[in-house]
Amino acid sequence: MTKRPHVVHTLAALDRSLCSLRKSGKIALIPTMGALHAGHLALVRLARRRAKNVVVSIFVNPAQFAPHEDFASYPRTLASDVAALAPVGADVIWAPTPELMYPAGFATRIVPEGAAVAGLEDKFRPHFFAGVATVVTKLFTQCRPDLALFGEKDFQQLKVVTRLAQDLDLRVKIIGVPTVRDHDGLALSSRNSYLSPQEREAAPALYRVLGNCAEKIRKGMTITGVLADGRRVIEHAGFAVDYLEARHAETLAPIAVAGEGLIRLLVAARLGTTRLIDNIGV
Ligand code: PAJ
Repeated sequence: MTKRPHVVHTLAALDRSLCSLRKSGKIALIPTMGALHAGHLALVRLARRRAKNVVVSIFVNPAQFAPHEDFASYPRTLASDVAALAPVGADVIWAPTPELMYPAGFATRIVPEGAAVAGLEDKFRPHFFAGVATVVTKLFTQCRPDLALFGEKDFQQLKVVTRLAQDLDLRVKIIGVPTVRDHDGLALSSRNSYLSPQEREAAPALYRVLGNCAEKIRKGMTITGVLADGRRVIEHAGFAVDYLEARHAETLAPIAVAGEGLIRLLVAARLGTTRLIDNIGV
């Protein structure tokens, strides 16, 4: 199906679009920061199967970037994003301006706890989940979707948003979608475009190590030893490791011994100036 999505930039235009869509059935929202790749499009395709109407938001959210991070250089590619969304069948693209989202005098933040303070991404990006929770809450109240889809690629974010929707009675069903990977296993990410050819060649080590660690843990090897070895291999591939951890897949509580519940392995590491994250289930 190729239908050019309706791109809207104001709340009034959004209300008009959603009002007519809502009459025909459920609305699914996929929040994104644009620079869309096949991972984002997988979310849109799944949304198509789950709801009559699909809204994709595109907004590079300043509130989730620290001053030293890549807000200014984050890729902004609205025209090609619109073109990429047409064949997968998004109905509406909600592309608000920063002034609309954060007008002068804006003074309210949602500060999540629980999974948001698990000591993973939050430890290295302390501002991040309040920025995400605030913008996602605004997107939910603006679009009032019946369901919203988020990637497992950002596993901690998926947990935070699921809890947020429940805690604030936002009446939106959160659906997690498995990570889409390149042919060599590297998780697709808008930030992969920052990698030099040499870094891009080294990058799949992250997923390879996660897979090897998961297999060893399944075979009964001790988690701490497996992760220490895994960290060394990642470092050998040229990364500086922020964390490589085994966590409870539901609560994100630390897991030291297999058998304490479903395990998720999560990693964040830097190749040069590019920070990559990934995770898999054991
Ligand atoms: P962004 O990084 O653009 O990602 C938008 C959505 O796509 C997120 O739910 C993310 O988990 C998912 N995604 C990214 N790469 C993926 C992949 N390889 N496979 C499957 N899903 C993938 O995450 C954000 O934006 C922002 O924090 C946002 C939620 C929009 C709030 O600003």
